[in-house]
Amino acid sequence: MMILENEKRIFTLQTRNTTYQIKADENGVLLHTYYGPRLRGGDLSRLIRYADRGFSPNPNEVGNNRTYSLDTLPQEYSGSGAGDFRLPSLELELADGSHVADLRYVSYRQQRGKYDLEGLPAFFGGEAAADTLVITLEDAAAQVRVELFYGVFEELDLITRAARIVNQGDQPVRLYRAASLCLDFSGLPLEFITFDGGHVKERKLNRAPLRPGIQSVGSIRGISSHQHNPFVMLCEPGADEDHGTCYGAALLYSGNFEAAAERSQFEDVRLTMGIHPFHFAWTLEPGQAFTTPEAALICSPSGFGQMSRQFHRAIRTHLLRDVWRDRRKPVQVNSWEAFYFDYDQERLLRFAKESAQLGVEMFVLDDGWFGRRNSDSSSLGDWWANEEKLPDGLSGLSREINALGMEFGLWIEPEMVSEDSQLYQTHPDWVLNPAGRPYTRGRSQLVLDYTREEVREYIFQTLQKLLETARISYLKWDMNRALTQVWSAALPAGRQGEVYHRYVLGVYDLLERIRQANPHTLIEGCSGGGGRFDMGMLYYTPQIWCSDNTDAIDRLSIQYGTSFAYPPATMGAHVSAVPNEQTGRSVPLETRGAVALSGTFGYEMDLGALSDQEKAVVVQQIQDYRESYTLIQTGDYYRLSAPSPDGAPTAWLHVSQDRRTALLCLVSGQVHAGPPFRQVKLKGLDPALSYRLTGDDMPWPGDVLMQAGYPLPMLGEYECLRLWLKAE
Ligand code: DGJ
Repeated sequence: MMILENEKRIFTLQTRNTTYQIKADENGVLLHTYYGPRLRGGDLSRLIRYADRGFSPNPNEVGNNRTYSLDTLPQEYSGSGAGDFRLPSLELELADGSHVADLRYVSYRQQRGKYDLEGLPAFFGGEAAADTLVITLEDAAAQVRVELFYGVFEELDLITRAARIVNQGDQPVRLYRAASLCLDFSGLPLEFITFDGGHVKERKLNRAPLRPGIQSVGSIRGISSHQHNPFVMLCEPGADEDHGTCYGAALLYSGNFEAAAERSQFEDVRLTMGIHPFHFAWTLEPGQAFTTPEAALICSPSGFGQMSRQFHRAIRTHLLRDVWRDRRKPVQVNSWEAFYFDYDQERLLRFAKESAQLGVEMFVLDDGWFGRRNSDSSSLGDWWANEEKLPDGLSGLSREINALGMEFGLWIEPEMVSEDSQLYQTHPDWVLNPAGRPYTRGRSQLVLDYTREEVREYIFQTLQKLLETARISYLKWDMNRALTQVWSAALPAGRQGEVYHRYVLGVYDLLERIRQANPHTLIEGCSGGGGRFDMGMLYYTPQIWCSDNTDAIDRLSIQYGTSFAYPPATMGAHVSAVPNEQTGRSVPLETRGAVALSGTFGYEMDLGALSDQEKAVVVQQIQDYRESYTLIQTGDYYRLSAPSPDGAPTAWLHVSQDRRTALLCLVSGQVHAGPPFRQVKLKGLDPALSYRLTGDDMPWPGDVLMQAGYPLPMLGEYECLRLWLKAE
């Protein structure tokens, strides 16, 4: 709901649990007056204080009023070079070489339903779900306008933001920074939470109080990255899963990003998020506009868990678009960790047949099926079957797979090219690299120039041919290196600062075309696991391979960190063989299953090599998947305990929307002699109901389970529990 007090120029965005308020003051400066737990409204600018602060200059409109400074006021979209020395939202260069952006309020408009952003991922919503507010600002001297877009999803507590910068003058303007989000907080001590790591160790939660100055995370790798996720949080000190006010901010973007939090000299806090300014320079010719990626905000007055559940709901219902969103996805078996590059048709068919006998529903042929690809250093770009390995081609193989009653899925890496490929030999200038400069290779491969339409067109036609010759129900869209030598042969020198962003737009464009041409094909995103796990990709690919680390114990913390923003149903997760490829650790098959079952679920191992006893476990897991799928896909997710190195169990709970069904999942940690009696307090149940637990004859009252906890049996190292709770 939006309350617009026109004559006072106050814009109050009310959601179920939160209030967000903006006000254009008497000087036209757009102030951010409040964001937090829901208030009744009114003019909250009375919260703002004015004081004469040394070295904080005063804009022309206020003459010698030294108590009014852009440097101290909470801004809705900060300018630069005009007296606010904190994090800028907008930095530009005008034709005269000046770098001043000084914005004032012009007008607003509103509409029912959510705005959309052409060529960019965005939350969507019709009139019943969302409202749009657009506030227009202007720097009159520069003849630059900025439109601030707000999408308000009342029930979800979701507020989306984006900005559109328009050059209204008759000279070109260069943009060096255009934030998607600027959020100022006055006088509150806040802590900054980020999700960091690296390849095979993605999205570990890091939390620290904000120190004076700027703290930031970001990526200049051309992908959102394994190292830092474009989702960050701010919270009150002491806030935890169930208490305290916290704010989650996500950027729907899959390339270079920056999320920066600044604690100012007066202990105010500003958060900005947007495209990373590294090597970003975008020229706006007269009349042209630039649209930033979308940012999404959720504030929870009652801890992290509530914020996550609102993000999960928002993603499930207003970001994922695929037909697969509401269908049960088939149980997969993937060839990668089973065989890597070492297979032929006969081996694959044996593998598929044995998997089908256990109930697996989809066979995914991973890397190694095309060109002369027998290692990871060859053939990318030559997307036709290797006839030595697959004499009947993909169509023959997929027919055989279908005859086993399974669907067929395929791995591709369409943004890349190997130098020994026919594609590279024909079009060496189709890679990103400044002419004459030696290559920097990553995984022995080069990156195709997706800024170019003819490159995308070629890949589109090639992929379409594949998708038409074989019955491919699933694509795993991989991307296995960071961008370097970022330069396009198709753009002039003055426009090379656009390549990083144009690359991302190119990826989105191609994904959208493939989606639309093949609406029934499930596409899973992947970038060496979780190198591009972001809400931008989720708009095109409803699930993303969470990490190349398939060790169930490491996965506990990877999936835990991922769950702060992203729902379990989007996390690509498979059971793999032991000892694990990445860690050498052996974990019981039941536990590997329990962890993968809280993701998309499948296998990444040679199921034919299992003992009969293990095969029986697999059959049971597939049955469990069928039973728990709807709950995991549509239910609420509660983190009950964080993965801990001291041996305490990691527990989580899926609860149905009507709170009558729940699934408790728990994995014990390292075992030490003389362990304590442990119990786990459940959440999200109905305290007035009684629940029957798997294997327990006596029902448990909901209030007992939540307030006193459920007493755990003694578990061995890395053993798991998966207990259903059904209300009587
Ligand atoms: C990286 C992916 O994350 C793996 O699952 C696998 O598909 C390999 N690439 C194949 O090269």
